[in-house]
Amino acid sequence: MTPAVSRLAEELGSRKPRLALVLGSGLGGLATAVEDRVTIPFAELPGFPQSAVSGHAGAIVAGRLGARDVLVVSGRIHYYEKGDAAVMRPVIETLRDVGVTTLFLTNSAGSVREDMPPGSVMPISDHIAFSGTNPLIGEASDERFVGMTDAYDPALRKRFTETAAEIGETVSEGVYMWFSGPSFETPAEIRMARTLGADAVGMSTVPETILARFFGLKVGAASVITNFGAGMTGDQLSHDETKRMAPLGGERLGRILTAMIEKGAFDE
Ligand code: HPA
Repeated sequence: MTPAVSRLAEELGSRKPRLALVLGSGLGGLATAVEDRVTIPFAELPGFPQSAVSGHAGAIVAGRLGARDVLVVSGRIHYYEKGDAAVMRPVIETLRDVGVTTLFLTNSAGSVREDMPPGSVMPISDHIAFSGTNPLIGEASDERFVGMTDAYDPALRKRFTETAAEIGETVSEGVYMWFSGPSFETPAEIRMARTLGADAVGMSTVPETILARFFGLKVGAASVITNFGAGMTGDQLSHDETKRMAPLGGERLGRILTAMIEKGAFDE
């Protein structure tokens, strides 16, 4: 057992969370909805990466959402911070080691679709890794050849869309394309993303999905659309806009996820 696993297990005591949520930029609000919560900063978990990005807290929150035990990772570390696609590996491995079986990843993203405006919630059906790297480069075992068909669990995706409809939210699935960042895309890159089959673009999630599948976790993911992609409107893109706009769709995403947890959609 690594020191991070024992530290987290000690905090959990008799709690047995099987679901972990990773919150994207500006989506930290859901962490504050966690009941009976204990917050463990990444800095207190040996081997965990440290973040310097504003809007990313870097902590694990343990508690209950919708009357179930959950772990919430608030403030992921991005590839662009250190140039290391495997930067979240210790976090995901630790979650697996304390008994998590399903990882739900969230992010803020830019829309490349005219009919998907800011405030939309997009469950991710598939991804395009466009950063030219992979978090499993250097992994020695044959386990590195991870199958990525249905990486985003089809049953979870179905339950996500159904639950959203039950609480009066319309969502539409889409393909997420991973750009390294930290600069935003150019208008030409956004046109390319659309041509290649993307619905949204962003700077996270994909390496975590690959790592989580490597560790045998079930994965679900959703984007909160904070802006149209570069060049689609006259606006300049900024991280301030991402943080300002994220709570809009973030609140809707939080309600969908809480409803899913309440009805046991993550239990099987
Ligand atoms: N591009 C990349 N990442 C993002 C965007 C975007 O337009 N919006 C929020 N995160």
